[in-house]
Order: sequence, then C-alpha cells, then structure tokens
Amino acid sequence: MKEKINFLIQGVKNIKEVGALTRSGAPLCKKMINTVPSDKDTVIVELGAGDGVITHHLLRKLTPGSKVISIELNPKLWNTLQSIDDPRLIAINDTMDNLTEILKDQGIDQIDQLISAIPFALLPKPQVKKFLIKHKTLIKPGGKFIQLHYAPNLFSFYKEIFADGELHFVLTNVPPAFVMEFDV
Ligand SMILES: C[S@@+](CC[C@H](N)C(=O)[O-])C[C@H]1O[C@@H](n2cnc3c(N)ncnc32)[C@H](O)[C@@H]1O
Repeated sequence: MKEKINFLIQGVKNIKEVGALTRSGAPLCKKMINTVPSDKDTVIVELGAGDGVITHHLLRKLTPGSKVISIELNPKLWNTLQSIDDPRLIAINDTMDNLTEILKDQGIDQIDQLISAIPFALLPKPQVKKFLIKHKTLIKPGGKFIQLHYAPNLFSFYKEIFADGELHFVLTNVPPAFVMEFDV
C-alpha cells in the first residue's frame, strides 16, 4: 500500500515523466517478463523501473547467474528500487539516455533483453526513434525489446525499427495496458 501511495504522489507531481498514476499490477508485470528465460543466464536492462514492481517479478524468474540493470530517473522511486536486496540487481538513478555509458561502466557490451516502461508516447517521435535505433545495437541478435503502453497506436511505429512484433492486451491492469514484444 505504501508503494502504491508513493507512486501516486510521484505520478501526480511529475505526470509527464512518470506517465502513470498507478504502478503495474501483477498480470501486467508477468506479461512484461513473458519472454524472459528461466533456464539460462540472461542479461536484462530495465528502463523506467519505477519502484521495482516489475524488477521483483524478473528476479523471481531469472537464474542465479543472471543480471538485471534497472534504470530509473525519479530519485524517490529509485530509492525504493535500490533497496531490493539481490546481488543480481544493479539499480541506477540516471536517465535512459546514458544507457551506452552505463553498460560500459558495468563492463557489458550487449544485453539479451531491453524491457521498457518509459512513457515514449509523451516524447517526440523523432527523439524516440533516434534513441531506439541507437540502443537496438546494444541488444544481441536474437534478443528482445519489450515495451509497455496504455494505447496500441505506437505498435506500427516500433515495427519500422524492429523486426517481427507481437501486441498483447492486459485487460486486468488498472488502467488496461498493452505489452509490445519485438525481435531484434
Ligand atoms: C509508467 S512508469 C513505470 C514504472 C514501473 N516500471 C511500473 O511498471 O509500474 C514509467 C517510469 O519511467 C521513468 N522514466 C521516465 N523517463 C525516464 C528516463 N528518461 N530515464 C529513466 N527513467 C525514466 C519514470 O520516472 C517512471 O518511473
């Protein structure tokens, strides 16, 4: 309950940045990590991790040798995220724009999956496109890009950048949400 209220306060204060008033519910979190393997070591980057609601699900599913680099801009939400006690998690209070440098600092060249809840719908399309084209190169061939949205309209926009894609609807979330999965 404390986390829900904290998220609501940050959402009200910074709606353009946070992009939501409610953190993702369990069915949405599970859908966001649907393609994450539970039987082999995997390196995941999570963008816009908030207070770590999806991170908890990720860490429960991943193998002991896996790694999660979770990036969150909002210091209050990051504060809760960084309190997750798991040696596989690196919680970074920074902007997604610095992803290349963040991975370099961690000695990571390429990752298996990029899982994003960044409210890209609120950013100018050319800026999002530039970001995705740059950061696609950080995902291994055969890897995945997963994006959360509250409307389906940007699916075709992402399909111009990534190869095959699938669109999933999670009706049981408040508000109902879409999970977009793309192959790299
Ligand atoms: C829709 S919320 C999702 C939070 C959480 N992952 C969830 O599913 O409930 C989007 C998050 O992205 C963060 N965010 C927005 N812009 C960002 C940026 N440039 N870099 C890193 N995080 C950012 C916001 O602070 C917010 O926590």
